[in-house]
Amino acid sequence: MNILLTGGAGYIGSHTAVALVEAGFRPIVLDNFSNSHPAVMERLARITGTTIPLERGDVLDTPWVESVLRQHRPVGVVHFAADKAVGESVAQPLKYFHHNIGGAVSLLRAMEATASEADMPAPTLVFSSSATVYGDPASVPITEDFPRSHTNPYGHTKLVVEDMLTALNAAQPNWRIATLRYFNPVGAHPSGLIGEDPADIPNNLMPYVAQVAIGRHEALSVFGDDYPTPDGTGVRDYIHVQDLAAGHVAALQTLLNKGKSFTVNLGTGRGHSVLEVVKAFERASGRPVPYRIAPRRPGDVAQCWADPTRAEALLGWKAQRTLDEMCADAWRWQQGNPNGYRP
Ligand code: UD1
Repeated sequence: MNILLTGGAGYIGSHTAVALVEAGFRPIVLDNFSNSHPAVMERLARITGTTIPLERGDVLDTPWVESVLRQHRPVGVVHFAADKAVGESVAQPLKYFHHNIGGAVSLLRAMEATASEADMPAPTLVFSSSATVYGDPASVPITEDFPRSHTNPYGHTKLVVEDMLTALNAAQPNWRIATLRYFNPVGAHPSGLIGEDPADIPNNLMPYVAQVAIGRHEALSVFGDDYPTPDGTGVRDYIHVQDLAAGHVAALQTLLNKGKSFTVNLGTGRGHSVLEVVKAFERASGRPVPYRIAPRRPGDVAQCWADPTRAEALLGWKAQRTLDEMCADAWRWQQGNPNGYRP
């Protein structure tokens, strides 16, 4: 039961690798470590008690990806590998179109080229999409049939890959494809051995808050307190990365057992404001998280949370963990690894 994880050394990929081992699968990590660290592989071995095979290289190298597929004959592929910084995507759109769209095309071509060969399993793919495809939603909670749009090149790439998968599946109905629209993944494995390790100053709220709590930054800038939300700050559907990882396992099992493609939201169904996150993190860490109110961040929406009904009905999956658990696990990771995976 081999499962190939492109970008498997990254934040969500590494947690999914652990969940797959626990569910009896054999993950294989494909990664070029462009936004991750090789040290994660040793951490994964410590958590799982098994050595997870590593294929080091670039998903854009189609012949090489074909050779990896021939070697491991995975019953499923999870495509995490992509760039994800919104601001960078505005400054360097071609990088995002190349890596995110080109990377998906390369992987799909490799899967297509090898699918008809002897002993190759039916092509089965789980794709990492994002709630960013809903743009500025007209209302909340968001169901999967909401209209899609994009406000930056990063979001555009997720939309284009979703559309490519729809076209591919129309042409080749034997493909089994799960499109997973993540809301806001946060937290870390409870061991404190793996977690989110942003290369630079974090763009996202939770890792920034964690770095304020540990003293790496003086204060959090809260981007806007005049949104039409209960306390005026932005509201998001934060989901524990362990719940998200479990969602991937459930999606793979559903594809393999039912053989039908689907698109689902992976969120908790409830929103928390920036100030609620700050307060929860202070409780979890016992440290103050000073903040100042700053102007709104361009492109931000007021509120965004999922209707997770379809995921529960289709996958039998539901997010379990609370905001307090997300903060406690993010804090354990931050404290134990102040420099992430770097020594
Ligand atoms: C962001 C991206 C989204 C991407 C997702 C996953 C933007 C506009 N959106 O989502 O496309 O899919 O990350 O990586 O970048 N906040 C602060 N101060 C900070 C950081 C964030 O107040 O220093 C606030 C934001 O205004 C927002 C909330 O915290 O209300 C969450 O922000 P963030 O963690 O960046 O996630 P999203 O903006 O939801």
